Formats: sequence, C-alpha cells, structure tokens
Amino acid sequence: PLPPPFQVPLPIPSLLKPVSADRYEITQREASAEILPGLKTPLWTYEGTFPGPTIESRRGRPITVTHRNELPVPTVVHLHGGRTPAASDGYPTDLVLPEGWPRATVHHGHGMHDPRAVVTQLTRDYTFPLDQRPTLLWYHDHRMDFTAPAIWRGLAGLHIVRDGAEDSLGLPAGRRELPLVIVDRAFAADGSLDYPALDPTLRERPGVPEPYLAGVLGDVILVNGAPWPVHEADATRYRLRILNASNARHYELEAVTDDGRRLDLVQIGADQGLLATPVTHRLLPIAPAERYDVVVDFSGVPVGSRVRLLNRLGSGRTRDVMAFVVARKAADDSRIPPILSTDLPTWRRTDAVGVREFAFRTGRMRGGHGWLIGGQPFDPARSDVTTRLGDVEVWRLIADVHHPVHLHLVGFRVLSRRGRPPLPHDAGLKDTVSLRPGEAVEIITRFDGYRGRYLFHCHNAEHEDMAMMANLEIV
Ligand code: C2O
Ligand code: CU
Repeated sequence: PLPPPFQVPLPIPSLLKPVSADRYEITQREASAEILPGLKTPLWTYEGTFPGPTIESRRGRPITVTHRNELPVPTVVHLHGGRTPAASDGYPTDLVLPEGWPRATVHHGHGMHDPRAVVTQLTRDYTFPLDQRPTLLWYHDHRMDFTAPAIWRGLAGLHIVRDGAEDSLGLPAGRRELPLVIVDRAFAADGSLDYPALDPTLRERPGVPEPYLAGVLGDVILVNGAPWPVHEADATRYRLRILNASNARHYELEAVTDDGRRLDLVQIGADQGLLATPVTHRLLPIAPAERYDVVVDFSGVPVGSRVRLLNRLGSGRTRDVMAFVVARKAADDSRIPPILSTDLPTWRRTDAVGVREFAFRTGRMRGGHGWLIGGQPFDPARSDVTTRLGDVEVWRLIADVHHPVHLHLVGFRVLSRRGRPPLPHDAGLKDTVSLRPGEAVEIITRFDGYRGRYLFHCHNAEHEDMAMMANLEIV
C-alpha cells in the first residue's frame, strides 16, 4: 500500500545538540518508524531517526563526536567529505564493537586479518577539525563488506559546516534553506526494508534482480525519510542542499511547474562548497554521495500551484521525488551574488608531479563476481597508492559501467571528461565524481591536510562492498 505522491509533509532532520561545548554523543540503535502509512519499518539509526540528526558546525572549530554502538553488529563511522585525521576517518576495519561482541569473531573481510585495525568496545570518539570550506557533509556507516546494508537500514545523517563569509552572502536561509536527503528503498509487505541477503552463499531474495551488478535499487523514493513528500513554500527563493544518499540510484532532477515549465536550478555549490560563480541547470544529474547546493526561485509560480521535483531517469513511481506547494506571496531579501567564492584551488596540469590511471571494472574475485580497481579487490593489508603530503597529482579514472568515485580527505577538480572539457555540473570542488559508462574522467588534486592511510572507492555502496575500494597512503 504505497502512499499517493506529494501527500506526506517533508520532515526536516533535527539538529543535534552538543552535550557540552563542541562535544556530541550519538547512540546507534535499533528503532522503528512509520514510513509507509500504517506499517512499522525497523531501522538501524543514529539517535533513533532516519536520517540521523544533523550536526551543524563552524569552519575551523574542532568537534568530538562519541558514537555508542547499541546495534547487533560492529559499525564504523565516516564523515564523508571531512578533512579528518586518519584515526577519526572511519577506516573500514576501525570498528565500534557492540556490547558482548566476541573479539575473536570480528570479521575483517575477504579472509584478511588487518593487524593495524583499531578495535574498541562500545564507544569511540571521532575528532573532526573541520578546517575546511563550508559545505554539506554526511556521516554514514563504512564497515568493510557491510556498508551498503547498513546505510540501507538507516545509518546516514547530515553534517553542515558554515562560516561567516558564506553567512554574509545573503543566500536564502533559515526555513528557506532545506536539506534534501534523497534515497530509494524497497519495502516488504510487512513494512520492513527489503535487501537481498548479503551472504554470497545464500540465494538472492526474489524481486531484487542482480543485486551486485547494478547495485540495489528500491521502488520507493524517500526525501528526508518520507515517501514522495510535499513541502509548503513561500513564493520566494529557496536554497536546497541536496544529497543523493542512495546506495546505487542515479537521478537527473528537474523542477517542473503544474503548467509544465521547468524552473532553473541555480547551482551555487558542489560537494566541497561554494562555486566561484553560479551555474544554471535545467536538468541536474546527481550520483550516489554527490551533493549539490541549489537555489530555486518560486516567485513566478502561481500561489496554490505545485512545483514537482522529478527524476528524469526514473520510470513509474521512481520518476516522482517530491513537490513544493507554493502557498503564499512573501517578502524575499535573499540574493544570489554573482561571485560566490574566491578561494577555489586552481591547480593546473603543470603543477602535477604525475598522472595515475585507475580502471573501475568488474572482474572475478574469490571465485565469484566482484568490482575491482586496477584489477585488484580491496585488501586492507595492501598498499595501493602512496603519495607525498603536498603533492599535486592528476588521476585518470576509467569506468566500464556507472561508478561514482569518491576520494577521502581531499577535494578535487574535474579536468576533463572523455578528453573534452568538464560538464557544467562538474564545476567547483568535488569529492565524488560520477563516471558514466565507458567514460574516462581526469581529476586533479593536492594531497594535503594529514598524513596517514585513507581510501578511495566507488560509492555505489554495493560495488564498494564487493571490493571496489583501494588504500591511499599519504606520507
Ligand atoms: Cu561516503 Cu568512503 O564514503
Ligand atoms: Cu561502482
């Protein structure tokens, strides 16, 4: 019994209150929510909700988040897009163990035991310096081999970094700044989330075809945890901070009025913060883990009519995402300044000490099907890339099918796609880039911030769990 679209009000994730100055506590626990009308959906949550509570912090002001694991399985927390020292970056074997979990059975995946893994009990402190451009980050589970089902069950939340320069731009703010966490999910008849069995020796559950090939898709679109919600808006500008937190689904978003007009989606920011100047889209592609900071203007929309946010890549019910009902005229003193930021890095090819090439392709591993980088499945005990702190490098990323590629620690710029200039939505500083089927994409970055062991991987969460991940050691 799926609800009709555009009926359920859009929830806004609550803000997490610090327990004392710059200290936060999050309990990971089981909870249930009424996502579909009349049904209870069991979830794994941060603080009892999906998405988890939003943390808001200020640039350069460090915070500590203590995670307590009351779930039945070990977990790992990663702050996606954070410039975080390796010890707090959530390496996939740095577990937070639940109570009573026997150490001896800790699963290090792929039959490998990583002696460097830091194992703690029950709680773990994550320290985030947040010395970085203000932007929308998100925190999510990152346990080796089990990230996809953990995120699917609800382990994801937002983290917004702000600073004075951004605050003073005059962008839409307060209740006219909306975080939109878009995911797809599949539900069983009893309201529980449907996910194919992860154990490769078990048969996949029917109804979810080829789970490891495309990744797991759902037929229900949730925004901030509600199915196809609706939001009552003023006839003014709104700032939409969009995250695609889906395991595998790609979207191409368009904002369509009742009389069939497409509104401009004015992009002001990318994964790693504000663009230099706004970029106007009619269609905005968004791959898993990407964030887009977008302003839409409802001032020309007749009061009482709707603007639907649609996914042009969807069909049937996955074409609808959410809707805005323009409820009233209202004063609007917001603006989109023609210059948004002046601190974007401008690395050039000639700055690079070298070019590396990585193929993201399917292959055989452990006698079965896997997803490999450079022909290799993830192995925490192997060193894949060693780079020197401060070096600029060009990476050429090549895909067989769709792979959203994410680097931990650093932001990068897209240099080229298929040997051509980047596309409009590649603008700005990114931490996740969507490789489309058959594409080669070049990115450039400087490996600065911290030394230590980090990761890069495909952010199709099923591909990630099927070993499409590699170590990035900064020395
Ligand atoms: Cu969003 Cu390695 O993570
Ligand atoms: Cu992939």
